[in-house]
Amino acid sequence: MPGSTITPDRCRSVIHWRVLPPSSRAHKHKLPPFLMETYKRPRLVMPDSVEKNKKIKTIIDSLRLSNDQVKLVMSTLQAEMTLGLSKDKKKRDSSCLPMENTYVRSLMDGTEEGDFLALDLGGTNFRVLLVKIHDGKCESYQQNYNVPNDKLNGSSSELFDHLAWGIASFLEKEGLKEKNLPMGFTFSFPLIQKSLSSGLLSMWTKGFKCTDGPGLDVVRLLNEAIARRGDIQVDTVAVLNDTTGTLMAGAYLDHHCQVAMILGTGHNACYMEHLEKVEKWEGEKDEPMGVAINMESGALGDNGCTDFIKTEFDIAVDKLSHHVGTNTFEKLFSGMYMGEVARQVLIKLTQEGLILDGRGSPELFTPWSFLTKYISMIESDGSGVFENTMDVMAELDVEDFVKEEDLSVIKYVCSCVSLRAATLIAAEIAVLIQHIDQSEVTIAVDGSLYKYHPKLHDLVLDKVHTLVPNVKCKLILAEDGSGKGAAFVAAVATRLSRAAKEARRDSDGDVKDENKHSEKLPSSPTAETVNSEKQDGESNKVDSPGKSPKSDNETENSLDLEATFQPLKSQPSLDMALALQGIPLKVS
Ligand code: GLC
Repeated sequence: MPGSTITPDRCRSVIHWRVLPPSSRAHKHKLPPFLMETYKRPRLVMPDSVEKNKKIKTIIDSLRLSNDQVKLVMSTLQAEMTLGLSKDKKKRDSSCLPMENTYVRSLMDGTEEGDFLALDLGGTNFRVLLVKIHDGKCESYQQNYNVPNDKLNGSSSELFDHLAWGIASFLEKEGLKEKNLPMGFTFSFPLIQKSLSSGLLSMWTKGFKCTDGPGLDVVRLLNEAIARRGDIQVDTVAVLNDTTGTLMAGAYLDHHCQVAMILGTGHNACYMEHLEKVEKWEGEKDEPMGVAINMESGALGDNGCTDFIKTEFDIAVDKLSHHVGTNTFEKLFSGMYMGEVARQVLIKLTQEGLILDGRGSPELFTPWSFLTKYISMIESDGSGVFENTMDVMAELDVEDFVKEEDLSVIKYVCSCVSLRAATLIAAEIAVLIQHIDQSEVTIAVDGSLYKYHPKLHDLVLDKVHTLVPNVKCKLILAEDGSGKGAAFVAAVATRLSRAAKEARRDSDGDVKDENKHSEKLPSSPTAETVNSEKQDGESNKVDSPGKSPKSDNETENSLDLEATFQPLKSQPSLDMALALQGIPLKVS
């Protein structure tokens, strides 16, 4: 059995969510204003060493962002977004943001029913979920699995075999091996989506360095791995990015949610865009007039457009990273890199003889040894308290000689790194709020950095309020949104598929010949891509060893799903879930 499970029983959770709850589960922090001031203005207090103080501040100063720099980051981001959505290929190619069409155009409307699976791969763990939506209630059962190191660096088929093993082990445990449930697949890497159920990997990011994968359809890789096993059947009806899943989960929690963000190992954002603004849109501009756009905003700056905020520490982090020269924005603050940014600063301070007796420790000098969670721990220590900070010092093996003033400096470094992170995140949120031009916006956030950093939520929100003072903005934690959102997308796809089927039945009187109906779909790049992809996929499935060809019923299902996200002209009301959700889309 490949890999190992992570304490299965503790990870298995049952979460009850109400369908369309009246209010969001806002992240709860209520800070007294004086404390907020200390968050916003980290201070280094070393009364006996004014000179040293000055030197330290000079080194760390590069991490501070001036208001002008923040404004420039904002205008640069907006410009790159516009280029990424452009009709003109040259312009699109010049942008560092792919602004990918996700094919998700409908959010939940509360009428979804059934059992759905989700597979969520994004970091060194992956999850399999069973989400049951019945009678207006939603329950989810999940199991986490480890992705061992050899799978991060091996071939893509080894990785996908491991994912298929996880799905099989989950289905076995839940007694679902004989079923063929619809599944949403959250794949948290840059994808060029060809349809809701197919996406080509652009490149690996974060800690993944498989020997192949870019250019391949990840749903196909998964289906092939499942077929190789031959013991389970899963109908992968949707592939999505974790931000899209979080947007879906966020909209479920709060109907003002139109933006989602991942602040975890990596960073990215997704938002509901009006079709009129998606110049590169090639399909019909029909209802619903929105589409979720996966920005891949972690890549902001990959074309050099944000070099003006890069510090020597960021350059060093990039050099050490798996994918040099890519995901520039993400490397400034996401969970995988933020600790390393802080370590780079600490090394410099040590080498200049300003902390830790100028000697540090082998641990401190080991790349990636300063985990982002250490920043969260240190930031949790109150003013003048060094309890967690001392625990971190023990991890770094410097606890025997660290001085109190060193502790102050280390804390100060962590505050400055956190403040820069919050400022950049807020700048991105502010741009998105201005871009969608609503008076009230909820941003759904998922990811370990956001969940565990004690100050990030408050710092981000405070800065957003400064940058866009006239908009009511809320950040909510859409916990496990990336996983549950995949099941929700599968649920919406299934609902719309059923509705489309019924509509065809009504208009044609029978549904015997599904192919005949698929020909009736509006001819558009989407429909064409989907159809050709389907043929490839089908021949694959039939040829694959150990798996029987799909039944008629199953084939019907997948045809319906394709219709789902290419709404039939005769049934404009089918896809009005956005409107049902009460989300007004501004027509520009
Ligand atoms: C990386 C991936 C992106 C993902 C993000 C958060 O930036 O490229 O697709 O959404 O991490 O997991």
